[in-house]
Amino acid sequence: MGYIISTVNMKGGVGKTTLTVNLAACLAKAYNKKVLVLDLDSQISATLSLLPPHEFGKLRKNRKTISHLIDLAVQSNFHNKLSTTDLIISPLANISQLHLLPGDIELYDEYIISERLHQQAIETNKAGDFERVWNNFERTLLQDILKPVVANYDFIILDCAPGYNILTRSALAASDFYILPARPEFLSLVGIQLLERRVKKLRESHQDDNSLRLQLLGIVFILSQTGLFGRYAKYYEQVKRRIKQDFPPEKIFLTEIPMDVNVAKATDASIPVTIITPDSSASKAFYRLAEEFLQKLESVADRKSG
Ligand SMILES: Nc1ncnc2c1ncn2[C@@H]1O[C@H](COP(=O)(O)OP(=O)(O)O)[C@@H](O)[C@H]1O
Ligand SMILES: [Mg+2]
Repeated sequence: MGYIISTVNMKGGVGKTTLTVNLAACLAKAYNKKVLVLDLDSQISATLSLLPPHEFGKLRKNRKTISHLIDLAVQSNFHNKLSTTDLIISPLANISQLHLLPGDIELYDEYIISERLHQQAIETNKAGDFERVWNNFERTLLQDILKPVVANYDFIILDCAPGYNILTRSALAASDFYILPARPEFLSLVGIQLLERRVKKLRESHQDDNSLRLQLLGIVFILSQTGLFGRYAKYYEQVKRRIKQDFPPEKIFLTEIPMDVNVAKATDASIPVTIITPDSSASKAFYRLAEEFLQKLESVADRKSG
């Protein structure tokens, strides 16, 4: 059974998508793992990092994106039902083990979802049960989308949108682990704390459901241009020290990702930087991160079995 992992941070522009796409590429390329990326952000950055825009355009025209599966979950009266397997694209960047479930610029309509769930609550004759119906929807939406394919992959990585929308909550509820990319800056620190509080609440609202497995795998620091040696260095160390007070050492990745212009260039080509320029500084860091990622999972598994 594959591990399901969400990449999350309340903040946008911190490197979630870059991390998702490159971790996936490194695991597939260097470790021969079978990896599926899911794009859950309507900015479709993960999709366009792996697939040229004109190919995405064709998929979208034929409604062959994840929003088809979300629509199906909300309103099942469709003629042309496609399954998760039908929508997965592979190979990507010439790597046969790297797969994508493409995202969409219109993922879901919150109003329609609320209306349907409200209707369901009324139909079960307990209008007061709206919260239970909603929690159940959140709990099962992505889990059900992934169910038909989860056994086919070593890893499924869910690239979440910034903020904390219903898809992010559903992604977290379906995940074994989440990874939190963050810049070592004060506002990021606040973002980490806010997210942790929300994850705690999510756990509480699904308390009666002991299949919720979610754990923080680790925080990954994404450094600014000046890296460790620039003027930021002292400040970064201060912030990191504070984060280390809040989290045990195993929850912080040792590998940090430097800023590297090759990352931006790679997105132009719709190929992960770790594939197109594997010797660049960011790519080398991502390969190290993939190794550390696998080690962390192993030690979690050891802890469980021991
Ligand atoms: N290590 C890096 N070096 C250079 N640019 C980066 C790096 N990581 C991310 N970026 C750039 O920063 C922007 C935001 O990154 P992205 O991964 O899309 O963040 P998020 O998914 O959190 O919104 C993108 O333009 C991306 O190309
Ligand atoms: Mg993103």
